[in-house]
Amino acid sequence: MTKRQLEELLKDMSLQEKIDQMVQLPAGVLMKNGREIITGPLSDLHITQEELDGLGSILGTYDPDELNRIQKEQMERQPHHIPMLFMLDVIHGMKTVYPSPLGQGATFDPDLVRDCASMAAKEASLLGVHVTFSPMADLCRDARWGRVMEGTGEDPYLNGRMTAAMVEGYQGHDMQEPYKICACVKHFAGYGAPTAGRDYTAAQLSRHTFLEYYLSGYRAGIRAGAGMVMTSFNTVEDIPATGNQTLMRDVLRGELGFKGVLISDYGAVKELIAHGYASDKDDAAAKALTAGVDIDMVSDCYSDHLAEQIRSGKISESLLNEAVMRILELKNKLGLFEHPYRYADKKEAERFILSDDNRKLARRAAQESIVLLKNEDDILPLYGGVRVSKSGENQDNTERQNIRNKLALIGPYADSRSLLSSWAVAGEQKDVVTIREALEECGAGTLLTAKGCPMIGRDEICYNCESRETDSLSDQELCEMEEEALRAAREADQVILCVGEHFLQSGESASRTELLIPAVQQDLMRKVAQVNSNLITVVVTGRPLDLREVVKLSKAVLIAWFPGTEGGHAVADILTGATSPQGKLPMSFPYCTGQEPISYNAFSSGRPMPEGKHLRFFSGYSDAPNEPLYPFGYGLTYTDFSLTDPTLDRDVMSQEDKITASAVLTNIGKRSGTETVQLYIRDLSASVVRPVRELKGFQKVKLEAGQSCRVSFPIDISMLEFLRADGTFGAEKGKFQVFISRSSAEGRPAEFTLQ
Ligand code: NOJ
Repeated sequence: MTKRQLEELLKDMSLQEKIDQMVQLPAGVLMKNGREIITGPLSDLHITQEELDGLGSILGTYDPDELNRIQKEQMERQPHHIPMLFMLDVIHGMKTVYPSPLGQGATFDPDLVRDCASMAAKEASLLGVHVTFSPMADLCRDARWGRVMEGTGEDPYLNGRMTAAMVEGYQGHDMQEPYKICACVKHFAGYGAPTAGRDYTAAQLSRHTFLEYYLSGYRAGIRAGAGMVMTSFNTVEDIPATGNQTLMRDVLRGELGFKGVLISDYGAVKELIAHGYASDKDDAAAKALTAGVDIDMVSDCYSDHLAEQIRSGKISESLLNEAVMRILELKNKLGLFEHPYRYADKKEAERFILSDDNRKLARRAAQESIVLLKNEDDILPLYGGVRVSKSGENQDNTERQNIRNKLALIGPYADSRSLLSSWAVAGEQKDVVTIREALEECGAGTLLTAKGCPMIGRDEICYNCESRETDSLSDQELCEMEEEALRAAREADQVILCVGEHFLQSGESASRTELLIPAVQQDLMRKVAQVNSNLITVVVTGRPLDLREVVKLSKAVLIAWFPGTEGGHAVADILTGATSPQGKLPMSFPYCTGQEPISYNAFSSGRPMPEGKHLRFFSGYSDAPNEPLYPFGYGLTYTDFSLTDPTLDRDVMSQEDKITASAVLTNIGKRSGTETVQLYIRDLSASVVRPVRELKGFQKVKLEAGQSCRVSFPIDISMLEFLRADGTFGAEKGKFQVFISRSSAEGRPAEFTLQ
């Protein structure tokens, strides 16, 4: 449709029709059996049959036949036959599930992340989905918050690169291209900084920190062309985001230039009342619309209360018209007016979904996401990386003497399909390859597999983890389970212990106050370590954890995140050395929970602790170090690299110049490997304090044993810019330090002056 036609359509629509476009309900209300009886919390929504007929969008289903039927019937019912929008949380894959977004952050590979989003878009579109509620661009520096799993970590630059890559992958250059869907950048804004890590609480950030660091991920997603933005549940400067006019009109639409559709988060318009910001639903509807919220996701504030507000003149109809126009424009961008059924295609879906190519991509993404934290005595890869056959023999018959062929595979994740996370809405466990299956497939020697313990102990508090298996296990069964594991551990040459968070311990509403693997698993680990010290621990987790004890008791530690459908294969590939680990931490792993929130890019304070010391009256803890156990950007490979100090081609730079910083990377180990070389800059003095380091670039470099290469980074003025004390963005003259390093905690700086 042309803009003109859209305008004519809008002019012709009744007030009720317009409001209906601005309402989103769960798909259930239009599903075959859902229309007649709207039960549960929905019965409170007072939705009339007429409103249902005009509904602009639904969320939460992906059945192509059902969606085509709904589309057809709804369009027939509506006076202007406007197609509906179908939305879903496609967070890290659709049917083929990729690693959780935090794991994707660990790949430091935006091209790969773009490919995963593109593949997810294809699977989703074939199942009828038009819009995904992804990417989550919230900056996450507090691992107590369960949703860190859904973001790409603590660094604004990495977060921005990954957010943009996901938007590009979902949407392509044009949403009308085949298999492209609309991306929704969320949750605007500051949702990643809830007080004390507790979900839905206030983001208490200084205005400066908020604008400079916390906005950058959303900004990148909007620049990449995201068609939709979702509001957040939290308050920003003591005003709930969903009703925050300054935030939505001045910052989002003004400064960030967002022109697409703004949708509320689930029920967030009505929640303005519980926040104490709106007196009733009339007020909530008025405040959200005035702030610029175009779609009310699952509440009856717009459907029941907007009409009266407009008729009485409390809100101007022009506000409503703007909102409806944006919704119509999005439907138009997706090509729905001309082709309302262009998405759902059951036949092609059956052919394409979980195809070999998709699985291959999922396997590669999971391989690249896995982070090796420790590898004492080069215990990994297994058998020194020499491949063995199913009978336990070395296939090429060399180094046979090194092959030990008894491995104990222990832990609740040893043979578990629960590798998808709580945010894999359409993913199915039956499609997941377990670690045991994958190790057996590649003939990793004799496997003695034993679960050893349940995922969560009977006495542990996990409000989210309903129906624990411990409830159905007797004490004797629990003892036998453990005994079997210890027998296996005693008998084996090496133990692979697969432990981690229950999948419901991370994700929405899964905040934690103790960042440990469940106590029952920690206990099993202690007992196993007593009978076999050759312990290789694989940690499945949504978030950074306090791994002090895990690291102490294990010779090797791998972080597998929630690795997705091909997680088992990827873990086996890394264990056996079929691929070398290359992931880098996208969030610091704390020394202890009390350090949270913690991130490498902090401010110095006026009393920075002198390096390597622990002195009183300097900024520090009296019972723990300041440093995390493992910093942002950290991750080992199966080879070793050296990296020279950086050199600069000049030490003075003007506003128009570029400086090139470079360093020489050498593979000084015995195998090939990939290192992620990271560029950090520090502004030594400025009109506002600046972080001790900020990531400004990275390059992944693959080198064979003995090979060297010079890694160069051009530095231009845009990389020195920040939000200055006067509220403008720009660089300031003075001295800067440049680090080129393999993590955020390494490297000696070179210095230059900006004139
Ligand atoms: C609430 C979550 O906060 C949001 O991220 C999600 O997209 C919506 N529910 C819809 O499922």
